[in-house]
Amino acid sequence: YDQSKSATRAPVVTVMGHVDHGKTSLLDRIRKTRVTAGEAGGITQHIGAYHVDTPNGMVTFIDTPGHAAFTAMRARGAEVTDIVILVVAADDGVMPQTEEAVQHARAGNVPLVVAVNKMDKEQADPDRVKNELAQRNVIPEAWGGDTQFVHVSATTGEGVEQLLEAVLLQAELMELNAVAEGPATGTVVESRLDKGRGPVATVLVQQGTLRKGDVLLAGDQVGKVRALIDENGKQILEAGPSMPVEVLGLAGTPNAGDNFLVAESERKAREVAEFRRDRAKEQEQRRQQA
Ligand code: GTP
Ligand code: NA
Ligand code: MG
Repeated sequence: YDQSKSATRAPVVTVMGHVDHGKTSLLDRIRKTRVTAGEAGGITQHIGAYHVDTPNGMVTFIDTPGHAAFTAMRARGAEVTDIVILVVAADDGVMPQTEEAVQHARAGNVPLVVAVNKMDKEQADPDRVKNELAQRNVIPEAWGGDTQFVHVSATTGEGVEQLLEAVLLQAELMELNAVAEGPATGTVVESRLDKGRGPVATVLVQQGTLRKGDVLLAGDQVGKVRALIDENGKQILEAGPSMPVEVLGLAGTPNAGDNFLVAESERKAREVAEFRRDRAKEQEQRRQQA
């Protein structure tokens, strides 16, 4: 990529935290949607990627399930992440998956912004949250540390503006740039087999621009992009840096965390994909023999 054409891009913010601490509710409040209402058992089962225009700039959000079974997925999620919003319910405090999120962020060298949620609840005890996180070396700015803590309520909307400001402030310090010109590269956030539409991959473009008609190589899967769909279900023609988008047209489902790129020709892309599949098979055989 021609770095002289590099421009500021939106921060990619992954929302992490213990199950039911309010990650999706907070994102619903920010996006003015009601994703939680449609979730089976109120539990997020898959990763959602959204982008939000705020008066101070665009932010891309990735919502992760809080259930323990999704630890591996979350670990991969940290790789595309610039900033983690760590959601901690003020009436519950630091829980096992709160700690895991802190560890993921630390391992990936990703800065945290702490959202102390459910402040509307009578049992809310934000000082306890601060103490518990400080014990784990996540020190509030007010106590001389470098982590922003924001008191919020997804239910009342209290503090949500301040949370966005805190995220954008953190992003500014990081000087996040990307080149929008040229063929796209990025990461697969998740993929699934849709009954009507076939393989659907949610990808995050990190450099360049992804366009309808491009030949995509994602992990060991290939296909011509038949449609690009934004998070509101609207067809779009292209997606630039930090844009999450659903891709239709792949022959199969790549893995979450796989890299993707736009290939020059379908034939070449298939060769690489075949090579990758063979290699994966060999590795699997060796693992079984060992
Ligand atoms: P998983 O995706 O299952 O890990 O949960 P989550 O972290 O996305 O939490 P979710 O948004 O599903 O919220 C869990 C429960 O807490 C729901 O019943 C919400 O209505 C409730 N809740 C979330 N935020 C608040 C809040 O600020 N105040 C109160 N009182 N309840 C909240
Ligand atoms: Na939930
Ligand atoms: Mg959720």
